Amino acid sequence: MGQGGMGQGGMGQADRVTSAEQLRIAVLGPGGVGGLLAALLARSGQAVTCLARPDTAAHLDRAGLSVTSDRFGEFTTPVRGADALDEPVDVLLVTTKATSLDAALDRVPADVLGAAVVVPLLNGVEHMAALRERYPAARVVAGTIRVAASRPAPGAVRHEGALCAVELAPGAEPLADALAAAGADVAVRPDEVGLLWDKLAFLAPMALLTTQAGAPLGPVRDERGEDLAAVIEEVAAVARAEGAAADAAATREFAWSLPDGMRSSMQRDAEAGNPTEVEAIGGAVLRAADRHGVDVPVTRRIVEELRARPA
Ligand SMILES: NC(=O)c1ccc[n+]([C@@H]2O[C@H](COP(=O)([O-])OP(=O)(O)OC[C@H]3O[C@@H](n4cnc5c(N)ncnc54)[C@H](OP(=O)(O)O)[C@@H]3O)[C@@H](O)[C@H]2O)c1
Repeated sequence: MGQGGMGQGGMGQADRVTSAEQLRIAVLGPGGVGGLLAALLARSGQAVTCLARPDTAAHLDRAGLSVTSDRFGEFTTPVRGADALDEPVDVLLVTTKATSLDAALDRVPADVLGAAVVVPLLNGVEHMAALRERYPAARVVAGTIRVAASRPAPGAVRHEGALCAVELAPGAEPLADALAAAGADVAVRPDEVGLLWDKLAFLAPMALLTTQAGAPLGPVRDERGEDLAAVIEEVAAVARAEGAAADAAATREFAWSLPDGMRSSMQRDAEAGNPTEVEAIGGAVLRAADRHGVDVPVTRRIVEELRARPA
């Protein structure tokens, strides 16, 4: 499939080409996160291929990506759609959910990927080892994103609020420059472990408690505040055992500063009857706790209860 032939909304692509070097970027899983970043990068002049299921790939190739964003406005931008990586790229962004990662990676043959930089933006930590094992010649660089984005339909992206903050470990500087030129907030930090566990230190307690309670953060704080504080302490202890400088008091203060109505995507997935990332988020905490001999009774109880729920 080639470049889509549709017109562009808003500012023309040529007007947005920046001084950043043009990169060949593939985005595996153009959903909320991947679709938003693919669209921003394509709009700013990068050569973006979205790797998706065949129907979605054909749709993207034909119609491009349409974004509605509180921060970046409404725009439609052409991208190339493909159902497998069929030519070399400089960067592969991996933006599926953990539950579909293995199947989606079948679209990326190791021999085509070669020595590209691979940047996963999934929540969790264990995907790093899985990617390194699968793509030994590639450079797998840790990344996280703080954003609220969803994919209401194939090729459509809804981005809520102003947050669009990417953190990258060293090794993906050209991507960092391209994302910054495309309008995202980008930071490069030296410590992979800290980068990944800082994200998990808040996300895991928030996701596990809101999903188990089937309620947003406000009622969780009011009715399950002790459990929330305990899971924050436990995940911070595991993060420290892993080598991150996790501060449970700061995470707790943050968790108590957020709006009552805040929900987690794990909770949304559970409510929609979709597979959740409980293994990638909660299961990963338990496995790391076991490796280090850290006691995490409250987290374990909640994760086990969520695992036992019918899929
Ligand atoms: N959304 C957020 O605001 C947010 C914020 C921070 C972190 N994250 C993390 O980012 C990751 C991605 O989340 P998301 O919300 O962006 O997920 P999402 O909207 O569900 O997007 C995932 C994409 O992966 C695609 N996909 C699934 N299986 C595939 C396969 N076999 N081959 C090709 N593509 C496949 C889906 O395709 P279809 O469109 O065809 O279903 C979808 O477009 C998760 O780990 C999440 O925890 C999300």
